[in-house]
Parts: sequence; C-alpha cells; structure tokens
Amino acid sequence: MAASDPNGPVYYKEWYHFFYQYNPNDAVWGDIVWGHTVSRDMIHWLHLPLAMVPDQWYDINGVWTGSATILSDGQLIMLYTGATNESVQVQNLAYPADPTDPLLVNWIKYDKNPVLVPPPGILPRDFRDPTTAMLTSEGKWRISIGSKINKTGIALIYDTEDFKNFELKKGVLRGVKGTGMWECVDFYPVSTMDDVGLDTSAYGDGVKHVVKVSLDDDRNDYYAIGDYDEKATKFLPDDVKNDVGIGLRYDYGNFYASKTFFDPSKKRRILWGWITEYDSECVDRTKGWASLQGIPRTVTFDRKTRSNLIQWPVEEVNSLRMSSSEFKNLKAKPGSVVPLHVGTATQVDIVAEFEIDKLALEKAVPETTDYVCRSGGGASRRGALGPFGLIVLADSGLSEFTPLYFYVTKGISGKLHTTFCSDQSRSSLATDVNKKVLGSVVPVFNGEKLSLRVLVDHSIVESFAQGGRTCVTSRVYPTRAIYGDAKLFLFNNATDTTVTASIQVWQMNSAFIRPYQPETD
Ligand code: FRU
Repeated sequence: MAASDPNGPVYYKEWYHFFYQYNPNDAVWGDIVWGHTVSRDMIHWLHLPLAMVPDQWYDINGVWTGSATILSDGQLIMLYTGATNESVQVQNLAYPADPTDPLLVNWIKYDKNPVLVPPPGILPRDFRDPTTAMLTSEGKWRISIGSKINKTGIALIYDTEDFKNFELKKGVLRGVKGTGMWECVDFYPVSTMDDVGLDTSAYGDGVKHVVKVSLDDDRNDYYAIGDYDEKATKFLPDDVKNDVGIGLRYDYGNFYASKTFFDPSKKRRILWGWITEYDSECVDRTKGWASLQGIPRTVTFDRKTRSNLIQWPVEEVNSLRMSSSEFKNLKAKPGSVVPLHVGTATQVDIVAEFEIDKLALEKAVPETTDYVCRSGGGASRRGALGPFGLIVLADSGLSEFTPLYFYVTKGISGKLHTTFCSDQSRSSLATDVNKKVLGSVVPVFNGEKLSLRVLVDHSIVESFAQGGRTCVTSRVYPTRAIYGDAKLFLFNNATDTTVTASIQVWQMNSAFIRPYQPETD
C-alpha cells in the first residue's frame, strides 16, 4: 500500500477528517482511491473505510485529489478530480450520505458527474485538483484548478452557485512560465495583523493571499504571498522582482502535494503535506508500504520579515511529550562533537538555541559568495562560522548520522547570511537511497538567537528553523541508528567560533492509530 496527497482536510462536527490518495494494492502509485481517517486532535487517529473508490466511468482510472468546502448553511461538499475511462481529467462532486454522521463514513457521488471537463485549449491530462471554494463579493463560490499551457503552469478560475454549473473566468489567477504542470493548487488568505487563521473566504484589509503550487516537474511545493484582486480574478505576488520565479518552498526536504484548511475550533490554518520516499520503488515493494504524512502545521504570515510564512507543528503535538532533559549554556568548541545523554533518541521533540561568539562575528572575513546547502559540502566542510547544530539518528560509532546545521557567513556589506541545512549524506549505510544535503537560507534579525525545533520520529526528521521561517523534512533510512542505538549530539564544525547552545529534549509518546474495525451485531 502507498499513500500520497492529502485530500479534503476539514473540521466537521468536532472531528478532524483527513482523506488521502491511497493505493490499497501496491507500495507504488496506482489504483487510486480515497483513504479516510478521523481524529479529535490530529495526533491520534481512527481509520475509517475507504471514502471513495473508482466505480464510475468518470473516475474509473482513479479518484484523484480534491478539496472540501463547507457551505454557508454548514453543508459539506467535496470536489475531486476523476481520471475517466479515457484518462481524461474531469472534476466531480460528492457529498456525505448522512450529514448528521460526524464520522462521514459514507459518500455519494453526484449522479450527473462530471461537473467540469477540460476547457478548450487545455489538454485532457492537464486539468486537476480543485481547491476549497471561497465566496466572491457577488455571493458566488470560486475555485481554482491547476493546469498548464505549453510549459507555463497556470491556475484556472471558475465561479459557481451550486457546484454543478461552473463559469470559467477570463485569464488566470496566476501563471508562471517554464514551471510546467501545476498540481494541487492551494489558495487562501492569511492575516497580516495577528496570528489568527482566516476562513478561506476572508478578504479585505489586513489580509494577504497565498498561492501554493506543487510542481510536477520538480516535485516540490512553492508558495507566493501577495494581493488578490477579487474583481479582476488576479493574484499579484508581493515579490514582483522574483515573479519570473515561482516563490519560496514550504519545505526544503521531502514535502509535496500539500493542502491547508481552516480549523474554526481553534481559529487557525493547518497545513498538511505528503512526505515522499527517497528510496527506490523496488525497496518500497519489499517493505510493503510507501510514504507518510507529516505532522500538521499551523501556517501564519511572518509579521517580522513580511515576506514568508511561518510553519509550526500544531500545539497538540506537545501532548505526546513525556520526560525531558535540559542542557543549559553548553559550550561546543570549534571542531567538537558533544554527546547529549538523553537515552534513546528515536522519538524526540527538540528545542534548541545557538549563539556564536560576538568577537568571532566581528573578526569574520567577508565572503563574496553565499553558502548553499546543496553544494556546500555538508556538515564536514568547515568554515569560519559554520556548520554547527545537532546530529540526530546517529549510532554511537557514527557510522550513520544526520546533521542539522546552521552555517553563517558575512557578506561584503558586513551583513550576516544564515543558512539552515539537513545533511543526509551519511544518514544511512543503505546504498539505494537519496543522500542529498537539503536546506535553504533563513532570515535572522539582529538580536535574535538562532533557534531550531526538531521532531525526530525514527526515519523522519522535521526541522523548523528560526521559529518556522525555514523548514526541512528529511526522510532517512538508518540501519544502525535505530531504536536504543539512536543517539543525539551537539556539534560545532566551525573553525573560528565556539557555539553556546541551550537544548531541551523531550521523549515522545507514540500516537494511537486505530485500524478500522467494522461493527458486528
Ligand atoms: C499529485 C497528483 C495530483 C493528482 C494525484 C493523483 O501528487 O499527481 O495532481 O490528482 O496526485 O494521485
């Protein structure tokens, strides 16, 4: 079995519903149905029967990605892409068979599906993944659907009153040359005034909009923040200079086909992402499963930088925290590795802060090129002010280990440039897994300490640098650094500075994931 895109996440009658692309028959993509699981807190889950399977001509080749919308009267509807008997991508409507059932076990497909087919000029296999609808000032519902024209990725816009008849709006919400097919478009508002999440239809003062696209060509999720002109059906990114590009990445690791939803119970916007595999399909088949879902994250606008989002694990994760170990003002000299004796470190939540010597900062020689994780030589290449950070999922002989590190350089203007990376190059003795160094630049303001939150869960490491400005999810495949043999270290491989670190490490409980058990009389 294999899971992929998050689908139709929604809060309904006090339950969080999570649907997902799922192959029940094999550990690779194919035979796609909608898996369904529910939770009270997005941590402990109860699996339910498959919500939708391919059983109609309009989705017989797959019940593909879609989104939920809660209408003004509380009614819940789903729009999803079906791959037809001729593999044409069409949009279909579905709704709960019993809206009074909080678990929404049974689903009905609208009998006149499909409700949308590819419009003129769009190829039959380039029309998929409808968004959650938002209200327009005319009182209509508006959705976006990803597509492409030649190599230009685009987000089409449709308005509807009943989710059965749709009007294609002129132009596109956004289009970026050279980006190829846009999958899983997400389009939502964020507040620029506070950290409160907004209903998808929020519009007006103190609101910016986010357009996220999943690029089929490079399998990463990119977002841009900007202004949405509702009347003109246009999104204008703030960073016009970089508009030729596509924006920032949600996550610089394995994170794809993500989707947000508004959680009215806690007034927050939650982001779900699919953690893709970095091993081969052959190995996935041998192990019998593939892919995971990340810990849900709250998403807010970064009111300090005003140019990126902040992502942070939902607060409910803290309910898994058990005993903790604290290390205050630990000093790591240049070229040192300091063991952090926390017992087993396979399932831990780490919060850490790092400071470099003021004198070393002053003395640092300006560099003309900025550090880049991908090509910077990983955690073993030494520079004046980096790399330093944590080593997770390490066995005691350090035959396998995954360093998460900051790397600071001084530019010729004297300004500091900070990068956060996850080095997977020695994460596993297995040979058939991807061993890239992942990561990106992270904005740091004067007076801010470097900070890091890391959720380690056996083979997944989710890192949130500087309060969640830059995130990296690493899917690693340790063979020795497992269970009782997985250790944790502080390291400093910089040549010119001592690093002072304060670190708290919690052992984490396991979540309860209950399989579906049909009721018996
Ligand atoms: C993204 C995606 C979507 C599509 C679905 C099919 O991973 O390709 O565009 O709807 O997966 O499973």
